[in-house]
Amino acid sequence: MKVLFVTSEIATLYKKGGLADVSYALPVALSQRGINVSVAMPFYEAIKVRDVSCVGQLAIDYDRRRELVFVFRTLLPHSHVRAYLFRHPLLNDYDDAHIADRFAFFSKAVAQLSLYSENVLGGPYDIIHCNDWHTALIPLLIGEQSKVGYRERETIQSKRVKTILTVHNLLYQGEAGFSLTLKLGFPKTIFHPFMTPLGRAVRLLTEGFEYVDIVTTVSPTYAKEITRGVHGKRIVEIFKRRKDTIVGILNGLDTKLWDPSNDPALPVHYYPNSVAPAKAKIKQQLQQAVRLPKSDAPLFGFVGRLEPRQKGLDLIASAIKKLATEDYQLVLLGTGQKSLVTLFEKLARDHHNIAFIHTFDERLARRIYAGSDIMLVPSKFEPCGLTQMIAMRYGTLPLVRKTGGLADTVSDGKTGFVFGPYTSAALHAKMIEVISLYRNNPKKFSSMMTAAMKVDFSWAHQVKDYIRLYKSLLAG
Ligand code: GLC
Repeated sequence: MKVLFVTSEIATLYKKGGLADVSYALPVALSQRGINVSVAMPFYEAIKVRDVSCVGQLAIDYDRRRELVFVFRTLLPHSHVRAYLFRHPLLNDYDDAHIADRFAFFSKAVAQLSLYSENVLGGPYDIIHCNDWHTALIPLLIGEQSKVGYRERETIQSKRVKTILTVHNLLYQGEAGFSLTLKLGFPKTIFHPFMTPLGRAVRLLTEGFEYVDIVTTVSPTYAKEITRGVHGKRIVEIFKRRKDTIVGILNGLDTKLWDPSNDPALPVHYYPNSVAPAKAKIKQQLQQAVRLPKSDAPLFGFVGRLEPRQKGLDLIASAIKKLATEDYQLVLLGTGQKSLVTLFEKLARDHHNIAFIHTFDERLARRIYAGSDIMLVPSKFEPCGLTQMIAMRYGTLPLVRKTGGLADTVSDGKTGFVFGPYTSAALHAKMIEVISLYRNNPKKFSSMMTAAMKVDFSWAHQVKDYIRLYKSLLAG
């Protein structure tokens, strides 16, 4: 079985969010289990790698021109996974207005590569595993491209390549003007356009849902939430028509990368049986580093994107106002939407027990994971979430809302704290409960910390479900 895992970002090469972590760790875990997996992504200018060589080129018809894409090969660090990086001026950047066009072009190149029957660029592949809207067009393009007569016709696979699409976040669906379909050069009728105030448009993610063999998402609860219509009726309608469901497979955690017994960012290291003294020391240093008063009050942490639609920052802001008389501290680290930055800068100015650091600093993030007592993850929705798993591995109790992967990973009163309704009252009540437990029952609090540290989220465990899925796909 040969698998090509296609993505827009891979930790160690280029990272914007949680997708990058999964795109590194999952292929590495698959290859450790004997699956022959390669990864493919655009070769952005920002990517700096040594030991990379050009191993081939692909001729892609796009926007009535024939474009040459140069494909480079390198290895993912600390692994045997081959990474194919696609170089072309259209693929130099990630961020700009033409982003949907760029990824549609990249998808066309991958679709073409997947059809070759000879050993071209690591192929021929049996399964193309796509991720999020960026690569969701690939199943449709493979279908269309295999119908078209190419000059290279004799090298085209006769067997049908199977496709999987993993949704990491349904909030982003890759909207593009209908003119994109003309650039791709396939009949207009294969797309499912909809009207916007600016005219007809397509969504790359939902086009993926129409054509892919299997859709997965990154936790069982998020899979249920999606099919219940929590994130829009269109998805429910497509899946009814397809007569199948979305498979939810919980993400794993790279337990080598996140390891409190061996994390160079930490001043001291610890295991489940030596948590308390080490964490106390890290907490003290953290308070100093972020200019919070030295105190043994419970310290809450938040690390993440300041994303107004997902991360529950509005709840945190109003809970803070209601907690004015409580003895606690809060440190927030993150970048994102400007109005949220201004809001948290003001809250930190007005409250001596709150620190807001407006940057992305991985070392500091690691010290917050280790030095806080509680990690706040009150997301409105969370496909999987990495923060709560990292927190637990570092013996810090996550306080989460019962949604998506948060609901699947945190057990209330055992390995963390869980609240239900998306309201600041519910978050506030839970924070009060936690502050009082911390004060009045330190024994229970610390036994929960140990229990949280012992939960096994490693990919070694999670990866089996993907392998089962790949096998069932090839058997079907
Ligand atoms: C996205 C989701 C997050 C998930 C990550 C990796 O960033 O928002 O919940 O953990 O993708 O799958």
